[in-house]
Amino acid sequence: MIRTPAAATGTGMTMNDRPRTMKAVAVHPGVPGSAHLADVPRPELADIPGGRGVLVRVLRVGVDGTDREINAAEYGMAPPGSDVLVIGHESFGVVEAVGPAVRELVPGDYVVATVRRPGHSLYDAIGTSDMTTDDTYYERGINLRHGFLAEYYADDADFLVKIPMRLREVGVLLEPTTVVEKGIHQAFEIQRRLRVWRPRRAAVLGAGTIGLLAAMALRLRGLEVTVFGLERKPYLNSDLVEALGARYESTRDLGVMAAATAEAPFDLIFEATGFSPIVFEAMQALAKNGVLVLSSVTGGDRHVEVPADRINLDFVLGNKVMVGTVNANREYFEAGVKDLAQCEAQYPGWLARLLTHPVAGLGAWAELLQHLTNGRGVIKAYCRVAEG
Ligand code: BGC
Ligand code: ZN
Repeated sequence: MIRTPAAATGTGMTMNDRPRTMKAVAVHPGVPGSAHLADVPRPELADIPGGRGVLVRVLRVGVDGTDREINAAEYGMAPPGSDVLVIGHESFGVVEAVGPAVRELVPGDYVVATVRRPGHSLYDAIGTSDMTTDDTYYERGINLRHGFLAEYYADDADFLVKIPMRLREVGVLLEPTTVVEKGIHQAFEIQRRLRVWRPRRAAVLGAGTIGLLAAMALRLRGLEVTVFGLERKPYLNSDLVEALGARYESTRDLGVMAAATAEAPFDLIFEATGFSPIVFEAMQALAKNGVLVLSSVTGGDRHVEVPADRINLDFVLGNKVMVGTVNANREYFEAGVKDLAQCEAQYPGWLARLLTHPVAGLGAWAELLQHLTNGRGVIKAYCRVAEG
């Protein structure tokens, strides 16, 4: 039996009357600037095995640097058998129908989908595909799997996370939040080695969406947070940092290493600038027993000269750790829901201020992508695919 919402059945339409195609924003992987509005097959519950399918009507999709790189053909592959890749990995939608073996979701529920899908490593087998050791990875909207910038998607209920009604306006921020959740969780997990770790001072490098969300998550955990960004304050991003009770510094005036030397080194540093040379500066700004989390996907080929002996010595004598983090599995989506809810309670209205650039409908895809290249003042550009 397939459950459908009253709205769909009430019109007298059955599943079979539905159009077989839908609109989606897609690229031809490998062809720069190939984003376009495409007609693609409309997903169906039956596409998902075991009765575990969920058909989701897409409401909002955010875009980020990954989408820009995919459209610049630096990244991204189409699913086998398709010559296009539907983009969009930051989703928010409403359940339209569920398969017979789905107990945890019902039509009308708001959901966000995880991004990575299992590969073949041991880590994939235990539900932690974010930790895959495979070279090939499957990510919806990024690599080998279609994304969500479309009218509908279907997926296994295992990959969907329910969003409470009160987070409806900001739910599209969950996927970027999960990147932060995983990084911070990994840091605390690693620091269990210390038996007692009481981080006090945190630095966040980068004041973009990820940097702001990292500052938020660290403030919710009670840390003293300094965010280092390029621009001088005041501007929206520095206002948002200060609204969290965190401090904002422009690296034009005070770099992370200078701050560590002048004040005190940092117990936890979260790097989210996209500028890899700053990593080596951050390594030198880390306190004894500190942890440095790296989250920037840097596709370039930059080389820098660093004081290698000095950095190595301080890492050894100070028992320091540096860890890379990518993607997020379901547990971090669930943690992200909690943090978004706590953020709404503690800093009401703060999250909505990140949603700076909405565009209306899939047809506005060019404007949407434009916000990624013409980025002044843009924190989060997103598409309002449908209302609901
Ligand atoms: C996405 C992650 C993904 C990473 C690497 C990021 O933009 O948010 O989910 O793992 O790109 O492809
Ligand atoms: Zn992303």
